[in-house]
Amino acid sequence: MKKMITMLVLLIMKEGTESSGWSVTFENLNPCALKGSSVEFRCSYNYRDGETVKNTSWYKGDLKDGIWKRVDLSDLPSYENRSEYVGDQQHDCSLVIHDLLYSDSGYYYFRFDTKTYGWRSRKSVYLSVTELNASVSPKRVRAGDNVTLECRTSCHLSSTVWFRDGHPVAKPEFRARVEDSGHYLCALQGQESEQSDPVALDVQYPPLNVSIEVSHPGPLAEGSSVNLTCSSVANPAADSYTWYMSNVSSSGSSSMLQVGSGQVLSLPSVEASHAGLYLCQARNSVGENNSTEWLMTLYQTDNSRFILLVSTGVKVVIVLLLPLVIIWVWRKRPNSAVDEKEHSHDYENIRRG
Ligand SMILES: *[C@@H]1O[C@H](CO)[C@@H](O)[C@H](O)[C@H]1NC(C)=O
Ligand SMILES: *[C@@H]1O[C@H](CO)[C@@H](O)[C@H](O)[C@H]1NC(C)=O
Ligand SMILES: *[C@@H]1O[C@H](CO)[C@@H](O)[C@H](O)[C@H]1NC(C)=O
Ligand SMILES: *[C@@H]1O[C@H](CO)[C@@H](O)[C@H](O)[C@H]1NC(C)=O
Ligand SMILES: *[C@@H]1O[C@H](CO)[C@@H](O)[C@H](O)[C@H]1NC(C)=O
Repeated sequence: MKKMITMLVLLIMKEGTESSGWSVTFENLNPCALKGSSVEFRCSYNYRDGETVKNTSWYKGDLKDGIWKRVDLSDLPSYENRSEYVGDQQHDCSLVIHDLLYSDSGYYYFRFDTKTYGWRSRKSVYLSVTELNASVSPKRVRAGDNVTLECRTSCHLSSTVWFRDGHPVAKPEFRARVEDSGHYLCALQGQESEQSDPVALDVQYPPLNVSIEVSHPGPLAEGSSVNLTCSSVANPAADSYTWYMSNVSSSGSSSMLQVGSGQVLSLPSVEASHAGLYLCQARNSVGENNSTEWLMTLYQTDNSRFILLVSTGVKVVIVLLLPLVIIWVWRKRPNSAVDEKEHSHDYENIRRG
């Protein structure tokens, strides 16, 4: 029991001497920060009671001509306006470096001087300046394939988050969907302005939403022109099209005949034989897909139009001519009676003569 108490007393005494003596303590000996960002070396220092601090300075370890040296930051032009002593002349010796450069990586030391004594930190801070490096693999996938996002740095940083075209990405591993194409970047969590360069993901898929667009919707007149356009959403864009049609009249058998290729099926003069179901097939390097069927209907055929025209024409003629015929017939009867009388007179005269 006595031994334990003496040990405790010794421990307390040891701590006591250290805190009342000369020391420099860094909170983080191996900070890592991103290029372009700021870093703070949190630091505290102690000295004997009654001393007054006259001077404080930060040094960088520097290898010059094969000799290891410590150079005061205020003597290094590249730190001008970028290094900021945020500590004081009491116990805080923290330093901030802004707009970090790769060349800022290295060892840093703190030194303070009192009237009687100068004290340099025994340990140093080793700063690593790094960059966020986003990668997506593979860069080009087919819809349904797995994609992995990786955010690499040369040292350990707080956790990172992902964005696709400004939208947060839930997981760095996923099965690619059509809408996952875009530019991805990673950023520090809670410090989202610290970002990697973006990397592109290209999700390829066969034609979707294939549809037929008709230049003149509705039933068509014979002889008119119509263009059918096959549109689709595809990545890469559809580059091959096939048109199929089947005549409705062909007794319901749904066998379709190939009638054209190219994105636009142009019918400059529509005929009765063109009426029927149309379908287009769009194709890209990933696959193919069919549109829904579109039914082309025409006004009456030429023959029925002709018959209609003739029958109405006949009706018009009858209605107009009938009164004329009646008048003509009515007027002709009395005239012939007079003629007969005249003829009879002539005849009589001849007989008398
Ligand atoms: C630091 O700032 C001063 C005043 O703004 C400026 O004159 C000087 O050129 C700057 N030095 C560097 C290295 O940027
Ligand atoms: C296909 O069409 C549907 C409905 O119009 C739409 O919601 C969807 O986004 C389209 N797909 C693509 C890949 O554009
Ligand atoms: C065809 O497109 C539809 C949507 O437009 C889609 O649901 C279907 O999976 C596609 N078929 C193929 C074989 O790609
Ligand atoms: C159909 O396309 C052709 C060629 O592009 C064009 O000359 C014609 O005017 C189009 N017809 C209609 C009805 O849009
Ligand atoms: C598209 O339609 C054509 C013609 O009817 C047919 O041969 C083909 O199998 C269809 N393709 C798909 C993916 O449905």
